Amino acid sequence: MNMKAVIPAAGLGTRMLPATKTVPKEMLPVFDRPAISYIVQEAVDAGIKDILIISSRGKEAMENYFDKNYELEERLKKDKKTELLKAITSTYNDARISFVRQIEPKGLGDAVLAAKAFVGNDPFAILYGDDIIAGEKAAIKELMEVYERTLCPVLGIKQVPHERISRYGCVELEKEPDGLLKVLSMVEKPSLQTAPSDFAILGRVILTPDIFPILEKGKKGKNNEVQLTDAMAELLLSKSFYACPFKGTHFDTGNKVEFLRASVMAALASSEKEAVKSMLKSIIPFLE
Ligand code: UTP
Repeated sequence: MNMKAVIPAAGLGTRMLPATKTVPKEMLPVFDRPAISYIVQEAVDAGIKDILIISSRGKEAMENYFDKNYELEERLKKDKKTELLKAITSTYNDARISFVRQIEPKGLGDAVLAAKAFVGNDPFAILYGDDIIAGEKAAIKELMEVYERTLCPVLGIKQVPHERISRYGCVELEKEPDGLLKVLSMVEKPSLQTAPSDFAILGRVILTPDIFPILEKGKKGKNNEVQLTDAMAELLLSKSFYACPFKGTHFDTGNKVEFLRASVMAALASSEKEAVKSMLKSIIPFLE
């Protein structure tokens, strides 16, 4: 399957201020790599070659990260630092990464609309720039497998504690005899009383290009933003959607504490695991 990926990363990142006043949140390091590189890696691991990042003013550091740095490469070659050389060249060797700007941060739906020309007539994967999913298998690959079975849009979902469902797009589901989860309805940031379930749309979606005419209407929803969930809910009126409860652990890196949790978990999965464990043990007295 020739699936393309779109990574919306044009948000203002106000929850991560003041750090994000000058540094895009996607470039803040999750242990030793920028947050966005984990998302790109997931797409690459799923076999996706063409990736479009939706960027915005002031986020040029992101473009430079996925470009060549001749001076640095020459130095690492000279010093025979092959591992580091591989790390800084894989950012442009592993996939064809391009960028387009969202002119104003009008919402996730409007950011996805900026991908229209890139997407063309094929289904495409959306990996939200804030959501890192760690696991053995690329989460978007799990969604692609559901797409291959159904040829319908697929929503990546996870059950969240009931009191948190109001932060997310929420789905109502029905299990089919073959085990597939059909989406009956979806709603963005429902109140705790009206939420149809505790299943949230968490950062991964496969969509078809018929979403674009809906997004083009630019209808504003919650927080006065063009919400992707609202557009998908409209498409659901004429098309079946399925859900995929992906297995990996989800981190919302748009939030300070979750960002720290993602960093610690990435550090514990790295070759510096033992040093990280000692460091964590040394701070236990401060938890009292
Ligand atoms: P968020 O809801 O986290 O918004 O976006 P935000 O503006 O980035 O962050 P806060 O809430 O101000 O801290 C979810 C995802 O959608 C992208 C973001 O970059 C993030 O990956 N997004 C959001 C856009 O690309 N454009 C937008 O207009 C809004």
